[in-house]
Amino acid sequence: MPTLVVVGAQWGDEGKGKVVDVLASKADIVARFAGGNNAGHTLVVEGQQIITHLVPSGCTYPGTICALGSGMVIDPVVFREEVESLQALGLLQGDELRVSLGAHLIFDFHRALDGLREDRASTHDNQIGTTRRGVGPAYEAKAGRRGIRVRDLFDANRLRERLLQCKAVADPEFERLGHDHRVDVDRLLSDAAEWARWLEPMVGDIGEECQQGIDAGKRVLFEGAQGAMLDVDHGTYPFVTSSNAISGGVCTGIGIGPTQIDDVWGITKAYTTRVGAGPFPTRLDGAEGNGLRKAGNEYGATTGRPRDCGWLDLPALRYAARVNGMSGLCVTKLDVLAELPRIQLCTAYEDGRLPGKDDLALARPVLETIEGWDDPDVGPALRAARTREQIPAPVRAYLDRISDAVGVPVVLASVGPGREETITLADAFEG
Ligand code: GDP
Ligand code: IMO
Ligand code: MG
Repeated sequence: MPTLVVVGAQWGDEGKGKVVDVLASKADIVARFAGGNNAGHTLVVEGQQIITHLVPSGCTYPGTICALGSGMVIDPVVFREEVESLQALGLLQGDELRVSLGAHLIFDFHRALDGLREDRASTHDNQIGTTRRGVGPAYEAKAGRRGIRVRDLFDANRLRERLLQCKAVADPEFERLGHDHRVDVDRLLSDAAEWARWLEPMVGDIGEECQQGIDAGKRVLFEGAQGAMLDVDHGTYPFVTSSNAISGGVCTGIGIGPTQIDDVWGITKAYTTRVGAGPFPTRLDGAEGNGLRKAGNEYGATTGRPRDCGWLDLPALRYAARVNGMSGLCVTKLDVLAELPRIQLCTAYEDGRLPGKDDLALARPVLETIEGWDDPDVGPALRAARTREQIPAPVRAYLDRISDAVGVPVVLASVGPGREETITLADAFEG
């Protein structure tokens, strides 16, 4: 079974970076298929924290191909800075990086529009709470057929044409918003020539490279960004990102067919977090929410914003399992729950509401209190556990409960941020 998709099963920040880093030890290719530098994926290797935003989280393994697919939106300035800072750490010293010619680019005017729109929305109380990285405006240009792709960097005439199209749409909006930013076609053309020189050795057809790898029996890991509930089609629209974060996004965002996907592993925290606006049925206000944020150190890896925290939401997780066709569940941050005086679990919503069907903002959780974690031995034993047998009994019961409710086996449990703080319950790439 050479392909495995790893996706977020909640509202992002589930620990995809950590899990991908663990699984990438077996992979030949790690490819991102959606999103941009709205993502922040954290790896902790030998005590050192690395946060990736665009570069796939297989970047710590020399020789492992790290590919950015056509479904992504890439800010060339951010990408170069990220690559250079990883290189300064001694990573990516060879020719591991690949960038799709079909990926779209984020320019300064996309970023400016994102921020200005958010500022304006805040005065009308309808902010999305975006990461302000220009991701929404870049996908909007893509759907509007005026987007600028990596391949356009290598064709000055086409690039000028596209920039003029973008200018015709963006400049009047800047004016309306009372801002003096304008699309500077000449400056961007000159910047683009430099980006093209730098990117040239990495660009290619990622779908073709992944397919060739699959055909040759190589192990290909597709790394998701964001999470199911932020998916533009299946999440809590309009409080979503602008791309397909679910496993189906691999086909469109890489350029391979659904029959090429063998396994889909969804990542969930042992509780739930969300950053940005929008419905969150199990959100905890007050002391309990603050306690969870403190115990889990829940601050955004990209923007540093405090994440809202709440109990694990089984109906939302069941929904995420369906829209992703999930074959395995990875549960992270179990150690955090051991810090809390009381743990609850959302088993259903009142009135029989369901995510994806009814307005999630109106859903009120039915909560159950979980027993057994208040034993002072549970926390230390859990953090030290490396095998199924070493997992304390109440934690094992919690995992079984989740697995039964979602209908998907738990294949990996994470008990700390470090690569080694991981319990593997099923082999990846083994089917
Ligand atoms: P991603 O966007 O899904 O890759 O997740 P983020 O990196 O944005 O956020 C996850 C945070 O949880 C990071 O700070 C990780 O280092 C951390 N983390 C991941 N797994 C665990 C775990 O099992 N326990 C603890 N305590 N922290 C974890
Ligand atoms: P990773 O990959 C958590 C959220 C933003 C906002 C909404 C739209 O690290 O899990 P955008 O900038 O995409 O237009 O913002 O989506 N968001 C994320 N939340 N983790 C992420 O990525 C996110 N990427 C976007 O907070 O609510
Ligand atoms: Mg993140």
